[in-house]
Amino acid sequence: MRILGIETSCDETAAAVVEDGRHLLSNEVVSSMDLHALFGGIVPEIAARSHIEVINPVIEKALKTADCNWHDIDGIAVTYGAGLNGSLLIGVLTARTLALVKNKPLYAINHMEGHLYANFITSTSLSNYLLPDNTPKFPMLGLIVSGGHTQLVFFKDHKNYQLLGQTTDDAIGEAFDKVAKILGLPYPGGPSVSRLAEKGDPNAYKLPIAKTQKEFDFSFSGLKTAVLRLAQHEIGESYDFPSKLLSERLNESQKANIAASFQRVAIDTVVKKTLAANNRFNPKSIVIGGGVASDSLLRSRLSEELPHGFITTDRKLCTDNGAMIATLGFYQSKFSKPSNPYTLGTFPNLSM
Ligand code: KG4
Ligand code: ZN
Repeated sequence: MRILGIETSCDETAAAVVEDGRHLLSNEVVSSMDLHALFGGIVPEIAARSHIEVINPVIEKALKTADCNWHDIDGIAVTYGAGLNGSLLIGVLTARTLALVKNKPLYAINHMEGHLYANFITSTSLSNYLLPDNTPKFPMLGLIVSGGHTQLVFFKDHKNYQLLGQTTDDAIGEAFDKVAKILGLPYPGGPSVSRLAEKGDPNAYKLPIAKTQKEFDFSFSGLKTAVLRLAQHEIGESYDFPSKLLSERLNESQKANIAASFQRVAIDTVVKKTLAANNRFNPKSIVIGGGVASDSLLRSRLSEELPHGFITTDRKLCTDNGAMIATLGFYQSKFSKPSNPYTLGTFPNLSM
């Protein structure tokens, strides 16, 4: 069974074809990131306009690379939440139209759930993909670490899960992006903070790990503020010194040490909670997904701490992509009815 997956929840316009929920035939992504970088963060109107411009060519390319025509496609899966509404609308309206015109079943996919299902892809005809050897097993613990979400989810089976905890304020990727701004690094902040952190001392500064009321919840806004106060203190200024002027006054070694100290605490926070959830729920597999899942420190810390390891996938499938949506679409086709192509709406605040 071949599913076309369409993803437009944020700044990536993505389409992919996946066979039987495990074999990747194509994975096309066009990002409008460079346009947002000029503004230091996502501009929703620019994201939506970019989706309109490229969605049809991206879908055509995904079909062509997969060597498929519409007769070979058995269903269309599309992200309907969570995300920016203007962006989601482009993907959903395109998928609805194609489902009607091409007479295909339509599957509405939860973006965060999709991130975890990227780990079910175990083979591909494409070059340069480092994929997991084994399919995740249930019960499965999922850690979602992205620009919009930080969540721990326990899956008894496909479509049967419980949200254990989530961030009460900023997502971890958002914290990376905000710290990048303080340090004068380009958007998206995750990769640029991680790169600079390699040159710094992770123990140079002591930053706080937030305490949360619920055991498996997260909080990152205090850490972000602590980084701001630290940077102001380092240049001898008080808390009212404007954050956008900080990076010119910090020297390279201060910046690298701040990046490394922040990264250590942010990553330790999610590693500790994942370890605690693993000890409590004893899953057969642990999977991670979302843009921050490509962070090298997160991967190495989890390998050190988790006795039976964890599953993650190629970095190209950690950030937003259509393949994860197509993969979950395959499983959804087994467990739920297709959506109505005349009425499917968008859910910007959809939760797990
Ligand atoms: O999953 P994703 O592509 O989009 C959302 O669903 O949000 O994640 C994007 C986030 C951004 O905040 C970006 O800074 C972060 O993932 N990110 C990273 C890395 N690569 C991307 N964070 C830390 N280390 C990385 N290597
Ligand atoms: Zn995402």
